[in-house]
Amino acid sequence: PSSNSPTEGPLGLERGICRAKGGSAGFKVAILGAAGGIGQPLAMLMKMNPLVSVLHLYDVVNTPGVTADISHMDTGAVVRGFLGQQQLEGALTGMDLVIIPAGVPRKPGMTRDDLFNINAGIVKTLCEGIAKCCPKAIVNLISNPVNSTVPIAAEVFKRAGTFDPKRLLGVTMLDVVRANTFVAEVLGLDPREVDVPVVGGHAGVTILPLLSQVKPPCSFTQKEIDYLTDRIQNGGTEVVEAKAGAGSATLSMAYAAVKFADACLRGLRGDAGIVECSYVASHVTELPFFASKVRLGRTGVEEIHALGPLNEYERVGLEKAKKELAASIQKGVSFVNK
Ligand code: NAI
Repeated sequence: PSSNSPTEGPLGLERGICRAKGGSAGFKVAILGAAGGIGQPLAMLMKMNPLVSVLHLYDVVNTPGVTADISHMDTGAVVRGFLGQQQLEGALTGMDLVIIPAGVPRKPGMTRDDLFNINAGIVKTLCEGIAKCCPKAIVNLISNPVNSTVPIAAEVFKRAGTFDPKRLLGVTMLDVVRANTFVAEVLGLDPREVDVPVVGGHAGVTILPLLSQVKPPCSFTQKEIDYLTDRIQNGGTEVVEAKAGAGSATLSMAYAAVKFADACLRGLRGDAGIVECSYVASHVTELPFFASKVRLGRTGVEEIHALGPLNEYERVGLEKAKKELAASIQKGVSFVNK
């Protein structure tokens, strides 16, 4: 018996059935691209999350092995694997949260936009499946270029008549995780005590850390601001170069994705005061999509926070970010409507 057999317990015994169906309270979560560099550690960490009752692992390769492996962990979530396009519907039906790390990662010398041609099509297909099978699910989109893939997903959902801006979230949490780490290093603090808002988008100059709003309140020299801004904006490239052709950030990304997914699930559960940065449909600037702090609740994004007071350095950064973001958004929208 494998964990792919959702209706029977081992030996087909009736008493196995309740749990094999995922009978316990909790949320149903699907990971699309679950056999990849991010997908595997993400699947492992989600299997450890007590808010998850059912975990669906979908990929176009290798899900049987990953599913068999992860399903042996003695935590609550029931794990099921789904392989290939013909099993996408089964993977998505009934899901509360869908996390998407499917697609190719960068190699040294590549920008995230260089991934557009391959990943745009992958995201479009997967979102068509979501529109059909679980239109009410919260979607956490990780596949790059996030600045364009989120607008692609929105267009797909609009065409299907299922678009709910509160439920589509681009994952920029890794930028926040990096910013917290690098700022803590400079200040000599524990990273867990540091909170750096990172707004804009998820590529190069569109990643805009608001160092004037760091908690706990602190001040930086101009040299520190230049160093931190550069390191936060190029943290991904730092990993791509260190991995020297073997991919981009996977372990820190899986950590960040779980931190974000957990916040979404706590919001769905009704916990109060859950605020994280995310790239969403927004009116915070004149652009249709923008990353900023959002409050997560039972219906997804329940409130989008304004950017707050920016200093001159951040205002200049914001203008640069908006210029690049506008082009990336347009590219995503045109891809679906071409
Ligand atoms: P990977 O190549 O190791 O894994 C990607 C997985 O997607 C593979 O298992 C592949 O079989 C699967 N896949 C390909 N086409 C698919 C389809 N049509 N349906 C379902 N699965 C499909 O790549 P890795 O390192 O896991 O990165 C995944 C994506 O995440 C990349 O686009 C990367 O740029 C992005 N990323 C995003 C970050 C963020 O902060 N938002 C940070 C790091 C990476």
